[in-house]
Amino acid sequence: MNILVINGPNLNMLGIREPSVYGTSTYAELVSFIEEYSTTNNVNVEIYQSNHEGFIIDKLHEAYYKNVDAIIINPGAYTHYSYAIRDAISSICIPTVEVHLSDIRKRENWRQGSVISDVCVKSFMGEHFKSYQNALDYLTNLERENNAK
Ligand code: DQA
Repeated sequence: MNILVINGPNLNMLGIREPSVYGTSTYAELVSFIEEYSTTNNVNVEIYQSNHEGFIIDKLHEAYYKNVDAIIINPGAYTHYSYAIRDAISSICIPTVEVHLSDIRKRENWRQGSVISDVCVKSFMGEHFKSYQNALDYLTNLERENNAK
């Protein structure tokens, strides 16, 4: 199974940015965590990070042409207002899981909404790195169920 993980703006600053919210682990540690968990679960993973909305949209379109099986996306602050990323997700018809390190539902009012949730098959939030692990588990189970049909 081929899974693309997309991380949006400021996630490269993990370990430095607001450690009380996002923890002290670095972005490199997040990448290693996802890679190691994917390897043990026989998943081929590509991990992409960008601080630019258009680059994230290009990557979503590329996933369509490369026949990626599933996507995990943490769009950072774009979660709350990027209709362009939302439209890209709904254009490509690839099962996509939304993830967040923090629980956006328990934070500032402006942060509580997600414009991508309803074009995603599932959302995991508030469990730091484990949110990504939950997303990988969800997608590998989904594939197993589809193969059994
Ligand atoms: C985040 C939550 C967003 O509100 C924020 O802008 C981020 C990170 C999270 O993973 O908790 O950049 O997506």
